[in-house]
Amino acid sequence: MRVFQLTSEATPFAKTGGLADVAGALPGALERLGCEVTLVLPAYREVFARGLPIEPTGLRFPVTLGSRIHEATIFSCQLPQAASRILLIGNDHCFDRDSLYGGGEDFADNAERFIFFSRAALELAARQPEPVDIIHCHDWQTGLVPAYHKLLYQEEPTLSRARTVLTIHNMAYQGRFWHWDMLLTGFHWRHFHWKQLEFYGQLNMLKAGIVFADKLTTVSPTYAQEIQAAPGGCGLEEVLAGRADDLSGIVNGIDTDTWNPCTDPHIPRHYGAEDVADGKYTARVALAARLGHAAPDERPLVAFVGRLAEQKGVRLILEMLGRMAGSGLAHVVILGTGDPVLEESLKTVAAAHPDAVDVVIGFDETLAHLIQAAADILLMPSQYEPCGLAQLYAFRYGTIPVVRATGGLVDTVVNVTDQTLDAGTASGFVFDEFTSAALEEAVRRALAAMQDQARWARLVGQVMAQDWSWETSARHYLDLYAQAAAASPAAVPAID
Ligand code: ADP
Ligand code: GLC
Repeated sequence: MRVFQLTSEATPFAKTGGLADVAGALPGALERLGCEVTLVLPAYREVFARGLPIEPTGLRFPVTLGSRIHEATIFSCQLPQAASRILLIGNDHCFDRDSLYGGGEDFADNAERFIFFSRAALELAARQPEPVDIIHCHDWQTGLVPAYHKLLYQEEPTLSRARTVLTIHNMAYQGRFWHWDMLLTGFHWRHFHWKQLEFYGQLNMLKAGIVFADKLTTVSPTYAQEIQAAPGGCGLEEVLAGRADDLSGIVNGIDTDTWNPCTDPHIPRHYGAEDVADGKYTARVALAARLGHAAPDERPLVAFVGRLAEQKGVRLILEMLGRMAGSGLAHVVILGTGDPVLEESLKTVAAAHPDAVDVVIGFDETLAHLIQAAADILLMPSQYEPCGLAQLYAFRYGTIPVVRATGGLVDTVVNVTDQTLDAGTASGFVFDEFTSAALEEAVRRALAAMQDQARWARLVGQVMAQDWSWETSARHYLDLYAQAAAASPAAVPAID
């Protein structure tokens, strides 16, 4: 099966969050199951700064955006040990910038940039010598692709048999733009209709994907349910519920080579389940040095690594720290970047409690790995969480997550009780209510559990033995591709 994966970010090229990890690892897992995968992403400025073997292919073609023409320049990259083909779409006007989507604020021309990328990706697929079976899109940045495929690219010999799959990683980011951006898409105005591309007077790219794709997935079964009702659907719940038969949830896997304490180049001493205590201690010494402390704190280390966004429950952490930071019960380390208000608030807490709270603002891959290795407990008090990868990385490093029962966290973390511990399924401390009191109660439960060292060691051993590698999830995608390929294209709601 020939699969085109279209994404706005993928490790090791460009990353702002979990989408990059998924798009970077899924192609390899599909290749191992016999698919032939081409991964397509934008050739951002940062892609060229990473020392990767990126070569020009010599292929260039024009892409029409309304009355303008942008040229696409295609690069390729062969990564060691990767069978999948990687193609990057270059255009200096769109992608030679200092960030992926904009710094504090989104770039004003993001509609143009991703209309260009979506259309160029289909033009690229259309130029392949062999027919493409599946075009798999991710998130709003490629949401227009299924619409292009059904409305404008049906006659292309390599694309006419293809089916489109859209994976939704986060309903809160929909790519909503002013209606005049319709002119850049090349679609007829009649598609600017509430049953298709229009949403409250705007062009909505994620909605376009939801309406036009043959199959829809999201990144956990629980989130697949949540988004079919308010507030999870972020306004598109009825559109999603209308496609319930084609919508499924497939939990993300993790890249077990990148996130492996036995081989991780970012940590000072490799470790496995047998020597986790030593491995964590050495990581903690390195982390303390990195954070400017003379020696590591003896208290339990509680960590947060993630985007500083309301979604991630950072407010709950702030409120909890306001009450607990002075208690002496734990040392807290936070790594993140995002909302400037949350960044400032966190810095203020750290300044008030220099011996109990460390806050690092920034995106730092090495530090993310070091923190996962050093920490005892990882906080994920998310308001909503489509899947979440940080908790799966935590398992691998013997770090126990404290999570709110939402989305993929429900599907991946089993609350610690005597029964679940005996059954070997316990994996974290789960709380329900989105309040800092509920978070604090769960953190206190986790800290209390650490007092019984033998019991804690058993829990750590159990989570480290769990298998969250991509194989199972990739099989689900493969089954879905086969279903999509065997079925007729999904019908699009009529607008006349
Ligand atoms: P989301 O995609 O919603 O941000 P996930 O848990 O799925 O959440 O994935 C987040 C990914 O981004 C993880 O690989 C995590 O380590 C990484 N990450 C998030 N923030 C940072 C940061 N400030 N520095 C380094 N890595 C980060
Ligand atoms: C999104 C979600 C996160 C998920 C990631 C990868 O960014 O917020 O929960 O793990 O995508 O699918």
